[in-house]
Amino acid sequence: MNLIDIHTHILPGVDDGAQSLENTLVMLRIAYDSGTRRMVATLHMFLDLFNNNDFLEIRDRFEALIRDLDSYKEKQPHIKEMDLYLGAENYASPEFLETLGQGCVLTLNGSRYLLVEVSPALPMSQIGVIMENVLLADYTPVIAHVERYAAVQQDPTQMERLRNLGCVMQVNARSLAGASGSQNKTCAERLLQEGLLDVIATDGHQPRWRPPDFQSVFQTLGQENPKDDVMRWMVTNPRLILSNEPLNSAKESE
Ligand SMILES: [Fe+2]
Repeated sequence: MNLIDIHTHILPGVDDGAQSLENTLVMLRIAYDSGTRRMVATLHMFLDLFNNNDFLEIRDRFEALIRDLDSYKEKQPHIKEMDLYLGAENYASPEFLETLGQGCVLTLNGSRYLLVEVSPALPMSQIGVIMENVLLADYTPVIAHVERYAAVQQDPTQMERLRNLGCVMQVNARSLAGASGSQNKTCAERLLQEGLLDVIATDGHQPRWRPPDFQSVFQTLGQENPKDDVMRWMVTNPRLILSNEPLNSAKESE
């Protein structure tokens, strides 16, 4: 099925994701076994907690990871079938908005698509202002785990306006599976039902805590939704993002 995961924390030692190369190797195995063949490393950036603000330093670390993984390809042949890309999960801090104007941000695989997260309790009006700023800077915001924000949970249909402006809605697989609480699950399902879901990703953090596992969600969604929809969320749209092309919305493909 060659699933594509555009939101993961597999770059070791930079945030609350993989803590070591060994962690990354286990996460790649979990992802491979669940059908994933392409993954984007989207570490937290512009979040005070981790102090990752320099995209050049992160790029070096990613290149070092690719070299390290090369040496494991003989022992673990599945690594040869996994394509890894670099991106970031950009926290919408004042510093991020300033850096955005200078173009010093890590987009998803060098495309115009920029994964952006906001503070969980931010009002919808402010979420809107941030995303409009990202659009004005000529990037396409991919809103990270959109189902987890309080303002979206109050009324998921509010996201229609931002989606119409060009924002991309990413939902976490774990939320749809009900593994991160009933509010996240209810909101994720509502977004899906309203046709406001563009991409599903794992947001995989560590081998045991929030693993990058698509398996159960892919099967469950496949039983409850048309195959075309599931493929659009987990293969087609992620692939279009990586190649910097416009996405397929449900309406266009009908
Ligand atoms: Fe994340």
